[in-house]
Amino acid sequence: MSTVDDVDLGRRRFLTATATVVGGVGVAFVAVPFLKSWSPSERAQAAGAPVEADISKLEEGAMMTVEWRGKPVWLLKRTKKMLDDLPGLNDQLTDPASAVASQQPAYAQNPHRSIKPDVMVLVGICTHLGCSPTFRPDVAPADLGPDWKGGYFCPCHGSRFDLAGRVYKGVPAPTNLVVPSHRFVSDSRVLIGVDPEAA
Ligand code: FES
Repeated sequence: MSTVDDVDLGRRRFLTATATVVGGVGVAFVAVPFLKSWSPSERAQAAGAPVEADISKLEEGAMMTVEWRGKPVWLLKRTKKMLDDLPGLNDQLTDPASAVASQQPAYAQNPHRSIKPDVMVLVGICTHLGCSPTFRPDVAPADLGPDWKGGYFCPCHGSRFDLAGRVYKGVPAPTNLVVPSHRFVSDSRVLIGVDPEAA
């Protein structure tokens, strides 16, 4: 009796394993035609090729998002007021001088964390657990308090970043948002994923 049960159990396990393997093969067969339907440039982008962003229509104070390596990359055109507000926030920030080298290339390790002061380029992924923060350029909104000068707010656990992606003290995120490698192809075109030296 127990032998039959054991056999049945063993057979069931085998069937389950077979179904899992077949399922895995099925996924692989489905994925190949899908990949083949991509153009060479789409496949290269998914693998990490640079992505060009046209910022010619980006107005002062506005932000646009492009996708690079499966991540959102934000391009923010900062106003003079936004830039002027940055130094006054330093005391409230964990790493105001961008000392953590992993969070930006050396050419963005400056007070505005960018190549051109007005054009901020950031990977839009929270450095706590990877949510995408919300762009909150509004000054002193009721939910963020009277000291808020505009920035990014992560809705997952409340981390706050300023308009240079610098993280505030006392929030779960440990480091500033990442500035990806990038260079300007022209005044209005930014190539994300390569350094200026690679021109
Ligand atoms: S993922 Fe952003 S605060 Fe936790």
